[in-house]
Amino acid sequence: MAGAGALELTGVTKRFGPFTAVDALDLVVPSGSFFALLGPSGCGKTTTLRMVAGLEHPTAGTIAIGGSDVTGTRPHRRPVNTVFQSYALFPHLSVAENVGFGLRRTRTPEVERRVREALELVELGHAGDQRPAQLSGGQQQRVALARAVVNRPAVLLLDEPLGALDLKLRRQMQIELRHIQTEVGLTFVHVTHDQEEAMTMADTVAVMNRGRIEQMGPPAELYEHPRTVFVANFLGQSNLAPGVVVEEGGGTLGVDVAGHRVLVPAARAVAARGTVLVGVRPEKVRILVAGQEPGPGENVLGPGRVTDVSFAGVSTQYQVELPGIGTFGVFAQNLLGGATVPLGAPVRLAWAAAHTFALDGRDAAEGTTDLDEAS
Ligand SMILES: Nc1ncnc2c1ncn2[C@@H]1O[C@H](COP(=O)(O)OP(=O)(O)OP(=O)(O)O)[C@@H](O)[C@H]1O
Ligand SMILES: [Mg+2]
Repeated sequence: MAGAGALELTGVTKRFGPFTAVDALDLVVPSGSFFALLGPSGCGKTTTLRMVAGLEHPTAGTIAIGGSDVTGTRPHRRPVNTVFQSYALFPHLSVAENVGFGLRRTRTPEVERRVREALELVELGHAGDQRPAQLSGGQQQRVALARAVVNRPAVLLLDEPLGALDLKLRRQMQIELRHIQTEVGLTFVHVTHDQEEAMTMADTVAVMNRGRIEQMGPPAELYEHPRTVFVANFLGQSNLAPGVVVEEGGGTLGVDVAGHRVLVPAARAVAARGTVLVGVRPEKVRILVAGQEPGPGENVLGPGRVTDVSFAGVSTQYQVELPGIGTFGVFAQNLLGGATVPLGAPVRLAWAAAHTFALDGRDAAEGTTDLDEAS
C-alpha cells in the first residue's frame, strides 16, 4: 500500500493489573525505515515489541502491519520476526540449518539458495557448516539476524540485539546492521536504551518514558529541538537554567535568568510565557576568559568559576559553577592543541542565541529519574 506505514499502533495500551506498562501509544513506522524505540529500563519497550509480535495482547488499541489489522492475529500468522538479546540458536544444528529452520517448516522452495544469500548478507557465507558454538558472540548474533531476515518479514523487531556484545563489537555490529537494513530494505524496529546506538542507526527515534512516547523524529531534530526535560537529558546532555519570560517580539523571547537577559528563538520554545527552562547543549557553549568578549547575537552567563576540567583528547569537558544558576557543562573541541582553561579560573559562558531552546518550567521535576540508564 503506497504511503501506508509498515507498522501502525493506535492507542495501544498494556496494563498488568493496576500497572500501566504501555500507555495509549500512537505511532506509524514508515515502510523500509529503521525505527528506534529508545528509553530507560522498564519504560515499556519490550512489552511494545511483544504486542507487535503477538506474544502479548493489548489491553486497548489496535496494531496494523502493512495496512492490515493484526490485533487479533496469532503470532505465527504475523509477517514479523524478532531478534532478541540472547540469540537462542539450536546448538545441535549447523549454522545453515539454523538459518533455514523456519523455511523448511513452511516448505519454501529454494531453501538452499535463500539460506546461502542470507548468510552472505551477514558475511558468514563460509560458515554454513559450522556449529554455533564454534562462532564468536558477534558471529552468532549475525546468524540470528540471517535467520530473521531469510523469510523477508514485513517488519523485523530487534530487542536489544547487541546487548550481549562488548563495546567495540557492538559499534561494529551497529554499522553492519544498518548496512544490512539498507541492503534488504526491510522495516526494522530496534529497541535500545543506548541513546548513541539509537541516534547513529535510526532514521526515526521515538523516545519512550513510563509507557509513553515523549518525542519522536529524526535523531538530529530530537537532539537540536528537545521538547521535554527528559528528552533533553536522555539524548545527550543539556544545560538547563530556570528563567522567566519578560519580553516577546520579532520571533524572539527575552528570558530573565538570574538577572541575565537570555534570548531564545520563539520557534525553539515549548512555552512562551511564565517560568521556562532555558537550555543549551554543552558543545554549543564556549568559555570566555578574562579579556574575552562575546560576539554579536550571543547569550552570556556569568561570571562563574571552573570547578572541573577533564581532558579527553578530542575535547575538554568543563564544569562551570554559575552563582544563582547552577552548574553548566562545556565541551570544547581540542582544535589547536593549546592549554586548557585552568581549574578555578573566573570565566563567563557564551553561545549563539540561535542555539538556545526553552522548555516548560513546570517540566522541571521530570526527567531526572533513570538518567544512569542513559549512558
Ligand atoms: N508479565 C508482566 N507482568 C507484570 N508486569 C510486567 C510484565 N511484563 C512487564 N511488566 C512491567 O512492565 C514494565 C515495562 O516492562 P518492559 O519489559 O516492557 O520494559 P523495557 O522498556 O523493555 O525495559 P528494559 O530496558 O529493562 O528491557 C516494567 O515495569 C515491568 O516490570
Ligand atoms: Mg526490554
